Amino acid sequence: MHERLTHFREILRYVPRFRDRVFVIAIDGAVVEDDNFPNLLLDIALLRSLSIRVVLVHGAAHQVRRYAELIKMTPSDVDGTGITDRETLNVAISAANRVTHEILEGLSANDLRAACPNAVVAHPAGILGGVDQLFTGRVERVDTELLQTLLERDILPVVPPIGIDGAGASYRLNSDAVAVEIAKSLRAVKLVYLNTEGGVSDAKGVIRQMTIQEADAFLKKSRPDLPPGAKLPHTKLTHALRACKEGVERVHIIDGREQEGLLGEVFSNEGIGTLIYANEYQAIRAAQKKDVRAVYSLIQQGTQNDELVKRTRAELEKVIGDYFVFEVDRNAVACAALHVYPEQNMAELASVFVDARYENKGIGVKLIHFTEGVARARGIAKLFCLSTQAINYFIQKGGYKLGTPDDLPPARREKYDQNRRNSQVLIKMLN
Ligand SMILES: CC(C)(COP(=O)(O)OP(=O)(O)OC[C@H]1O[C@@H](n2cnc3c(N)ncnc32)[C@H](O)[C@@H]1OP(=O)(O)O)[C@@H](O)C(=O)NCCC(=O)NCCS
Repeated sequence: MHERLTHFREILRYVPRFRDRVFVIAIDGAVVEDDNFPNLLLDIALLRSLSIRVVLVHGAAHQVRRYAELIKMTPSDVDGTGITDRETLNVAISAANRVTHEILEGLSANDLRAACPNAVVAHPAGILGGVDQLFTGRVERVDTELLQTLLERDILPVVPPIGIDGAGASYRLNSDAVAVEIAKSLRAVKLVYLNTEGGVSDAKGVIRQMTIQEADAFLKKSRPDLPPGAKLPHTKLTHALRACKEGVERVHIIDGREQEGLLGEVFSNEGIGTLIYANEYQAIRAAQKKDVRAVYSLIQQGTQNDELVKRTRAELEKVIGDYFVFEVDRNAVACAALHVYPEQNMAELASVFVDARYENKGIGVKLIHFTEGVARARGIAKLFCLSTQAINYFIQKGGYKLGTPDDLPPARREKYDQNRRNSQVLIKMLN
């Protein structure tokens, strides 16, 4: 129960921030057919009940494949990235209509009003590398006004991967690309891709967060020498990156088959997918009263392995002004404190702790440097810190040197002798 309440609080924290803002949710056709789809619809209903405006964009590759099999034809392309011949276009229109319909049914079952607008103006992709792409299209323009009108009236737009041009001809579009254009046109605060593959992974598993620069580097590394025309890996990441570069702050790529995947990703730092973000919204700031709970829970994690000294919440409240927090998406994921001993012109760097999920991203070093800057600005000449398990870390990454208890200011020395942790004293001169 307690844990649930905490989650609930976490969700509520986001509510004012997202009210009346737009989330574009792009769903692969395969996700619509998955057992978890009804849960996803419930999640979407919850987002709507929090006054978040949702636009659904869906794909149909899975259904195109299936229909083609059924009528024993070989589609020239399945996902709107290759060449679409006339027969494939017809299959794609039928498949997409079917998916739209299923989504509308599901939304109705959750009392959500929805409509499938003709909101994407397309043009033919044309001749690429000498090859006519036939009925494969590109998004020319999004009818933003049409979408806005629906959203303002609490009608959820469901956008298929088919566009129509000014002459009334239809084109097969790639739904991931449609989602980017719609997110841009509506200035969406989030674009969420729900697929059946999950987030972006490297050898160590799912990469939880990537800045634009990291995503760029990752893509460059993963597609060194592809022959021209070859299908690119990580297409979702490619689209996510473009969306970020063109103004969508946050793009999530998650497995749409995971229960609570969507809510977990949107409302907590405990998601399952990959977040690609545009703004450098990771930041260090001085902790305030309202951060006591978050800092306390971070420190608690540290005390479990005897890495940090135990502190009660009341004790922490008294010294919260000494703390700094490192935030990711407005959640404190790391902390450090600077306790000043003015008489000796010294300060202690203490309670350096990085949430295990965010380790090895340079956050610890950033906090060390930041607090050092603060200490310098206050005219402090000598920093010390006490460590039991990160001694080499402070020496190698923080530039600290081995010291002795004699280096401590008298008041601190007294406590040191009392608590018997036998921590190593580390020293850094500032000048
Ligand atoms: C120690 C701690 C603060 C490091 O933070 P971090 O953000 O994960 O570390 P960074 O990303 O800045 O640096 C990572 C580097 O430090 C090394 N490192 C991490 N923890 C280390 C440790 N305990 N001892 C030695 N080196 C360590 C990593 O191997 C990595 O090395 P590399 O750059 O050569 O690959 C973090 O792991 C933590 O909170 N640990 C538990 C609490 C603790 O011991 N706090 C110190 C007491 S005040």
